[in-house]
Amino acid sequence: MEYLKRYSSVKELSQEDHDLLMQAIQSRELAYAPYSHFRVGSAIKLANGVVVTGNNQENAVYPSGLCAERVAIFAARSSYPEVIIETIAITCRHEEQHTDKPFTSCGSCRQVMLEYELNQQEPIRILFYGESGEVWEVPNTKVLLPFFFDKSALI
Ligand code: THU
Repeated sequence: MEYLKRYSSVKELSQEDHDLLMQAIQSRELAYAPYSHFRVGSAIKLANGVVVTGNNQENAVYPSGLCAERVAIFAARSSYPEVIIETIAITCRHEEQHTDKPFTSCGSCRQVMLEYELNQQEPIRILFYGESGEVWEVPNTKVLLPFFFDKSALI
């Protein structure tokens, strides 16, 4: 996977990426995850310098909940529809088991991130992290979703 960049720890990140990831961690701790006990936080860096965060929000009616990535990206796009999304930092942790490696986003979140990447015609870089250990970076969302569905099928 030549597009996957692996950092052995958060200490290897640039100051800017490190700060973004710390904001994702802060948001992760505010998640509402009483059912899965799996907390996810996301921090989105926009081209205007604004950072928008979000975390997973669960519900007693399970499918009514939403992943951290979509909470954050929908908030970002609803407040700043014209501003380029540059980087998304995502972190997760299970409350009952130490998460020492990154987990990557679910298919629905990949599809949503890809929609905005195609729309803005600029790549969205993504950083994935657990609670400790490696950080993974991919240069855009397309690599996460080969054979994706997009609007060209609808026109
Ligand atoms: N979750 C996310 O927030 N992002 C993902 O990409 C995968 C899963 C959340 C949804 C749910 O609240 C919990 O993690 C367990 O699936």
